[in-house]
Amino acid sequence: MFAVHLMAFYFTKLKEDQIKKVDRFLYHMRLSDETLLDIMARFQAEMQKGLGKDTNPTASVKMLPTFVRAIPDGSENGEFLSLDLGGSKFRVLKVQVSEEGKRNVQMESQFYPTPNEIIRGNGTQLFEYVADCLADFMKTKGLKQKKFPLGLTFSFPCRQTKLEEGILLSWTKKFKARGVQNTDVVRSLANAMKKHKQDIDVDILALVNDTVGTMMTCAYDDPYCEVGVIIGTGTNACYMEDMSNIDLVEGDEGRMCINTEWGAFGDDGALEDIRTEFDRELDLGSLNPGKQLFEKMISGLYLGELVRLILLKMAKAGLLFGGEKSSALHIKGKIETRHVAAMEKYKEGLANTREILTDLGLEPSEADCIAVQHVCTIVSFRSANLCAAALAAILTRLRENKKLARLRTTVGMDGTLYKIHPQYPKRLHKVVRKLVPNCDVRFLLSESGSTKGAAMVTAVASRVQAQRKQIDKVLALFQLTREQLEGVQDKMRVELDYGLKRDTHPLATVKMLPTYVRGMPDGTEKGKFLALDLGGTNFRVLLVKIRSGWRSVRIYNKIFAIPLEIMQGTGEELFDHIVQCIADFLDYMGLKGAQLPLGFTFSFPCRQASIDKGTLIEWTKGFKATDCEGEDVVDMLREAIKRRNEFDLDIVAVVNDTVGTMMTCGYEDPNCEVGLIAGTGSNMCYMEEMRNIELVEGDEGKMCINTEWGGFGDNGCIDDIRTQYDKEVDEGSLNPGKQRYEKMTSGMYLGEIVRQILIDLTKQGLLFRGQISERLRTRGIFETKFLSQIESDRLALLQVRRILQQLGLDSTCEDSIVVKEVCGAVSRRAAQLYGAGLAAIVEKRREDQGLEHLKITVGVDGTLYKLHPHFSRILQETVKELAPQCDVTFMLSEDGSGKGAALITAVAKRLQQARKEN
Ligand code: BG6
Ligand code: BG6
Ligand code: GLC
Ligand code: GLC
Repeated sequence: MFAVHLMAFYFTKLKEDQIKKVDRFLYHMRLSDETLLDIMARFQAEMQKGLGKDTNPTASVKMLPTFVRAIPDGSENGEFLSLDLGGSKFRVLKVQVSEEGKRNVQMESQFYPTPNEIIRGNGTQLFEYVADCLADFMKTKGLKQKKFPLGLTFSFPCRQTKLEEGILLSWTKKFKARGVQNTDVVRSLANAMKKHKQDIDVDILALVNDTVGTMMTCAYDDPYCEVGVIIGTGTNACYMEDMSNIDLVEGDEGRMCINTEWGAFGDDGALEDIRTEFDRELDLGSLNPGKQLFEKMISGLYLGELVRLILLKMAKAGLLFGGEKSSALHIKGKIETRHVAAMEKYKEGLANTREILTDLGLEPSEADCIAVQHVCTIVSFRSANLCAAALAAILTRLRENKKLARLRTTVGMDGTLYKIHPQYPKRLHKVVRKLVPNCDVRFLLSESGSTKGAAMVTAVASRVQAQRKQIDKVLALFQLTREQLEGVQDKMRVELDYGLKRDTHPLATVKMLPTYVRGMPDGTEKGKFLALDLGGTNFRVLLVKIRSGWRSVRIYNKIFAIPLEIMQGTGEELFDHIVQCIADFLDYMGLKGAQLPLGFTFSFPCRQASIDKGTLIEWTKGFKATDCEGEDVVDMLREAIKRRNEFDLDIVAVVNDTVGTMMTCGYEDPNCEVGLIAGTGSNMCYMEEMRNIELVEGDEGKMCINTEWGGFGDNGCIDDIRTQYDKEVDEGSLNPGKQRYEKMTSGMYLGEIVRQILIDLTKQGLLFRGQISERLRTRGIFETKFLSQIESDRLALLQVRRILQQLGLDSTCEDSIVVKEVCGAVSRRAAQLYGAGLAAIVEKRREDQGLEHLKITVGVDGTLYKLHPHFSRILQETVKELAPQCDVTFMLSEDGSGKGAALITAVAKRLQQARKEN
């Protein structure tokens, strides 16, 4: 009995001595609680640095956005292929995520070796090898005939701008293949797979880090999981960060997973005070000296080596093995993490230690074995402590982001060190709980690796891809081919000729109305004129003073509102209102009682028998006043003036806005023979040879024709390019079946087309979370100015979202992207259609004059042309392409069409005068 006690005493004493000895020797590796709290604080600062746009470039902890935005919600389903590359084992898997609400995942997998010559050879060969393994897997599993989405778990630091991309920042751990750094890994793999085109039909939809895969795997079972940690060959963590804190990604809504790449913590010297001579020596002998310094103190690839370096040093100092060293102890990598784990086993640990040391050619005493075991403990404990400090920093950040006093959360865990080391998990958990007492943390081991999670990410990506296809299908309806545009040009040309010919004119949808404007101002015009400008966005009354010879004009004008009930009331009310506005204006200008000549810009189709007569054929755009169609609008205006009986005016000319615009520009540039409006409505006028105008007597000279091309297509000739959305817009308009071309091109309707598309996409569940709001049901919410803002290149996504929110549309950032695309498709088509129409005219003018080349100026006006960021450019490009023999200059009408109307009035007045004198 006594002997047993003595033995026990002896052993305890021996153990104490050995432990003290090692403790003293490795004093620097034992981290106090204060030190851990300090490291935790440093890591918090590092995270902040990595997240900031300006500080990220110099941050060592890269905090990489992963474009994984949500944890699985159980709705994921389908069959996926998965690759898992970068941990201790390379695996190919097929994952089946089942549907019908049941969370059920089935996996088939196969491990493949990763020989050093592959992972440290040439990059192309590495990816070819991976593709070969995948092909082999598909062959042996009989999967060759099917197309699969593929998720790639790639456990290295990658910069991503989308899920299906990964620019390798640097290799870590055991990998060092040439020519891969700074390239897109997804593309390289896709290229390598081309070789197996016959066998492999896969679409790489997602690249995820192993931490992300792990988090997602665990989150599938526990929705509280919002952190993933790997303590394996390497070490790293990811977590869900608030978008508003991620400077590097646009948008501030919801969360995104951040791959911290904490392994690089300390690469800027931030941990020098805690690194030891062994850490430095290990680093110097590694594949990536100076890099991944935190990882090198923690992870499985390095722990054994640290132990070896310590033992060697202790032996050299005579503190172990009686000062003897074996040659094996000198060999790098001879002690592995699995050895460390075995030596630290609770019961068999000491025996294992003896065996391992003996295998290394050493002859360890009992005391040596105890000491070596303690070295292992100190090294692996330090590892767990360091991980705990960094993890505590993440948990604190999560808690603060959520503004909670206590955080309940789950951390998904994986990695061989964590899994095989007998004490590691326990120690880690304990220290974390000590460092963050206000967090209730559940540690959940990922049983099925990171690929299950990667499959979840791929499932979401594949759903997004399918949705994208649906959206693209809708947008494709608005993409016109060159042939289609030429078709429009040709048909427009036919319609122009139809409208000009006496026989076909009555049936023509492009009305080709003679305007009785025969020439351009010659600069001799002068005097004071009144002008009215009705039919665009604004109703204006103007006073125009023309000085002869100077080509100089002074304009005074006032904008008046025309309330909707007047636009759509009775004709008498409308004209009384107009006269009321004139009276106000004259009053305002101090011209009461002055009898001035007046030019009336009336932007609707009128049949004219002279310059001062115009019978309204039918209302277009937003007007619908009764008893006007079929009436002479000049007479109606005169009668209204008479009714008021306050002043008299000499109404000399009624002109369309296109004609006014052409004149305004023609005053500056005599080459201007076309007037174009791209505003509320769509129309064009041009100077035609009298001999071609069968409706008007005489063959001499030219006359301006108001084409009223807005009615193009009313006979169905462009129905092949009209979409269901165009039809819906038409049906909801004031004039169904009429002005089909205008309804595809002008400001009043583009927003409506956009709205119809958005409604449809929402119905399909592709936008606004499938909810059609009251706002979206409201006609006219997308005015031209909003479309123009949304499409501005200078606007960031957030600003687009703000505009949509102002419009009452509660959109996410993804929604905003789609809305912007929809606007772009609709306005682009409009600009192209305008281009095709205009090309038809200029080509006609060129041919009529028998010219090889035509040089011509087009006067343009209208809010769509003026405000939209791309419209004018696309219109001009299209004309250039479709009418290559015409050199078309676009001249913006700065002063509106009122000036042109006044000039026409001045010319008409001069002619009137001359006639009287004769
Ligand atoms: C596996 C995961 O379980 O763990 C891998 O599937 C991951 O994606 C690995 O890289 C990490 O551990 P180790 O020890 O293999 O590096
Ligand atoms: C104005 C002209 O500048 O543009 C009007 O003076 C014309 O006559 C108008 O109708 C067209 O643009 P919008 O966008 O106002 O319809
Ligand atoms: C290395 C890699 C990192 C990975 C970790 C665990 O640190 O850089 O991306 O997550 O190892 O495998
Ligand atoms: C409508 C009108 C037309 C006008 C155009 C631009 O198409 O019918 O007369 O020129 O809008 O305002």
